Amino acid sequence: MIQEDKIRNSERFKIGQELHDILANELLHLHFLLFKTEDQLEHEVFHQLSDRVNYIRKQVRLLSHNLIKPYNTSFGNFLKSVKTLLIDYTYFSPETTFEFNFYPKEIHLSPHIEEELMVVLKEIINNALLHGKAQHIDLNIIDHQDELSIIIEDDGVGFDVNSEKLGVGLSNIKHRIKSIDGTVNVDSMIGTGTVFNLNICKNENISC
Ligand SMILES: Nc1ncnc2c1ncn2[C@@H]1O[C@H](COP(=O)(O)OP(=O)(O)OP(=O)(O)O)[C@@H](O)[C@H]1O
Ligand SMILES: [Mg+2]
Repeated sequence: MIQEDKIRNSERFKIGQELHDILANELLHLHFLLFKTEDQLEHEVFHQLSDRVNYIRKQVRLLSHNLIKPYNTSFGNFLKSVKTLLIDYTYFSPETTFEFNFYPKEIHLSPHIEEELMVVLKEIINNALLHGKAQHIDLNIIDHQDELSIIIEDDGVGFDVNSEKLGVGLSNIKHRIKSIDGTVNVDSMIGTGTVFNLNICKNENISC
């Protein structure tokens, strides 16, 4: 394959990945929210809805900017981003309980690592809600000096990790974590739930 084709293919892959992980997942959030408005036309819900639409608008801008100039710099406080995400999910999916345990006080990651992790966390949680029908989701973050462990556990229907075909979501999780030199391990049991173990090197310039 000539160099130009290789570059074109890798760009096409990247755009497809971003469309799936960012836009499709954000629209799924909105979909959850619209369900709630059906029987509960609250003022507050409309505000949330308008915020989400605005958020998607910003994400589309970011995506287009990132295609031109990689990495945005709007991140910087990983724990705060995770907490905000879980608060959003509590609202979208009030029948599910979310528990967040973290042992470090603060975590400094590069914007690139933080951005990739946030996209991965959203896909894992969306899958737990959508496919797993989870009632409870546990998210644990443990700081091991150079490494970070992130464990996401759901009590959903579970799936057979060996026979289940990798969808775009699971395969993007693997690609994104590999791209930041991390590892992913998925453990799931039918009827019991699913556990994702992510191990990440906190510093892009040091290998763990
Ligand atoms: N937490 C989970 N609980 C139960 N089943 C899951 C869970 N996560 C993934 N799965 C199963 O693995 C399959 C593949 O997930 P994946 O995210 O790759 O694809 P998808 O969500 O079906 O579609 P998409 O490619 O749009 O993400 C799902 O269809 C589902 O059967
Ligand atoms: Mg998915």
